Amino acid sequence: MPIWVWIFIVLTGGLFGLKMTYVMFTALALPATRGAIYVSTTRTRLAAFIRAVPMKPEQTLVDLGCGDGRVLRLARRYYRVRAIGFEVNLLAYFKARLLSIGRSGIQIKRKNFWLENLAGADVVFCYLYPDVMHRLAAKLQTELRNGTLIVSCNFPLPGFQPIQVLRPEGALHSDPLYVYQV
Ligand SMILES: C[S@@+](CC[C@H](N)C(=O)[O-])C[C@H]1O[C@@H](n2cnc3c(N)ncnc32)[C@H](O)[C@@H]1O
Repeated sequence: MPIWVWIFIVLTGGLFGLKMTYVMFTALALPATRGAIYVSTTRTRLAAFIRAVPMKPEQTLVDLGCGDGRVLRLARRYYRVRAIGFEVNLLAYFKARLLSIGRSGIQIKRKNFWLENLAGADVVFCYLYPDVMHRLAAKLQTELRNGTLIVSCNFPLPGFQPIQVLRPEGALHSDPLYVYQV
């Protein structure tokens, strides 16, 4: 068989393997994620978040479902905040841990955030799914301190009034980021 056929088979097989790994880990995490599957926020949208929500080094940022941890790393780099992420998808969790090796001030926890008390957060970031937003709004309303900022990608928090809605230019589908203050 010509070499290019072998290259094609190996590349296609590799891509298929990667895709199946993603599907498997996503399916395993579904009971906890309820549809909020592992998809990363784009750089443009992250940049908009970082510009719109200045933080102080003594503050704590929590990402509810941190994916590969990119939100945590960027916020830590810009503002030196203490950055905590919860993640139940093992693939995303290990990627986040790997990419954060050697960076101080970032904690990635393999935990279901529904079971955690979020009272210590100064800023909460989330990119979840419409099905969980009512439940999330109730949890945040109960647990967060007055003044805590919440940023929700794509989906609004029912019952909260945004103080700002960001629509970063060039972001995929220009989905909004909602900024709230408790
Ligand atoms: C759309 S992704 C967003 C990832 C990251 N926050 C970002 O913006 O790049 C949502 C992530 O939340 C995680 N997730 C959903 N529900 C969770 C839960 N109850 N506890 C921990 N992680 C959860 C999913 O596994 C997924 O990786």
